[in-house]
Amino acid sequence: MTMPGQPAKQGPRSLDPHLRRYAARTAGMTASEIRALFAVASRPEVVSLAGGMPHLAALPLESLSAEIGQLVASEGLVALQYGSAHGVPLLREQICDVMALEGINGHPDDVVVTVGSQMGLDMVTRIFCDPGDVVIAEGPSYVGALGSFTAYQAKVVHVAMDADGLVPSLLREALEACKRAGQRVKFLYTIPNFHNPAGVTLAVSRRAEILEICRSYGVLVVEDNPYGLLGFDGQTYPALRSMDPDNVVYLGSFSKTFAAGLRVGWVLAPHAVREKLVLAAESATLCPPTLNQMIVSRYLSTQDWKGQIKTYREAYRERRDAAISALEQHMPQGSTWNIPDGGFYVWVTVPEGIDTKAMLPRAVTARVAYASGTGFYADGFGSRQLRISYCYPTPERIREGVRRLANVIEEEMQLAATFGATPGRQLSGPQTPSPDTA
Ligand SMILES: Cc1ncc(COP(=O)(O)O)c(C=O)c1O
Repeated sequence: MTMPGQPAKQGPRSLDPHLRRYAARTAGMTASEIRALFAVASRPEVVSLAGGMPHLAALPLESLSAEIGQLVASEGLVALQYGSAHGVPLLREQICDVMALEGINGHPDDVVVTVGSQMGLDMVTRIFCDPGDVVIAEGPSYVGALGSFTAYQAKVVHVAMDADGLVPSLLREALEACKRAGQRVKFLYTIPNFHNPAGVTLAVSRRAEILEICRSYGVLVVEDNPYGLLGFDGQTYPALRSMDPDNVVYLGSFSKTFAAGLRVGWVLAPHAVREKLVLAAESATLCPPTLNQMIVSRYLSTQDWKGQIKTYREAYRERRDAAISALEQHMPQGSTWNIPDGGFYVWVTVPEGIDTKAMLPRAVTARVAYASGTGFYADGFGSRQLRISYCYPTPERIREGVRRLANVIEEEMQLAATFGATPGRQLSGPQTPSPDTA
């Protein structure tokens, strides 16, 4: 029996009376590992290094609430009404100004406003992928994107990264192997800046080559860039989209630079693709929330949004420093990690013999949560990796969380030394190298 306050137990799938009714595509829809532990991991005594929640406490809530109040008072009849699936025209113009910071010369007509870039991912997959089509993605890759790809029954082929991001020669090899196997590759999905979860950035010197390889194989590029303005030194990199506008679909978001809960993102697509995206968006939501779009638009025209991004960057830099110094101080030998220069994440490789997925419940019992590496691969790799998100907890909590995590790893190592490898699946094949080891 479920006690009040306890999460309801999930029965075995076979007890679901609707099982025979589900579409085949739902077979790939499974809750992420951290979602399964969410109820426990979100208790206040647990330091969560798991989720990628932005540090909203840095927002000027009072002035924002005044702006939002004025917006409803003066333009409520528009803001609370249906709008177009394409998005609010003024916001689409402002989005072009935001993208110009990374070298993109986009036209407002080619921007489609979405409910977060997650919806952009869903729509792009919906319009391009038939079941069995291949999407190439970095290994590891963003879990929400993998969820969209599997929901449309696309097959994900991972290409490894090194400290400079996606490795062009490995991309070429993967495309060649797909070609030989007669597989239809629809697009390369890539997060070039401050990668989630790997924390690395694609070297500028590799960008043209990656675009050229994709062109030569007739493969579209889907560039997902929610963190591009969060470089800790204020540095930005030329967007892939700026270098090959006709073959890149660009996904942007206000989630990390303003407010994730407003759910406002966008897609900038080649003109013909944009038409299909608007139709797909219309059938999904009719239109993105008008009020939220107008809030973002007003924010961009009345507030110091670039100053706010700087405030965010400084907060994340301080948190990154706390995470890295704690890792250096506490992690046992045999662990490695990269040092991100922007974004939210550190990608950690733990000593051999430890399975981060099997270890997760024990870590949560020790009051620290993280995202285990396997969730970021579609093919079962990543059992020696984990992602630390330093974006949300205070620096002090981050240090404490990393200390607890290191203790759990030490205990696992002692167990492994006494009884053999930790329980859970041990992969027999080679591990895809993490960014810091390749
Ligand atoms: C790489 C990447 N893409 C897309 C998203 C989704 O963001 P949004 O809030 O805009 O839907 C995230 C969120 O964490 C992300 O990390």
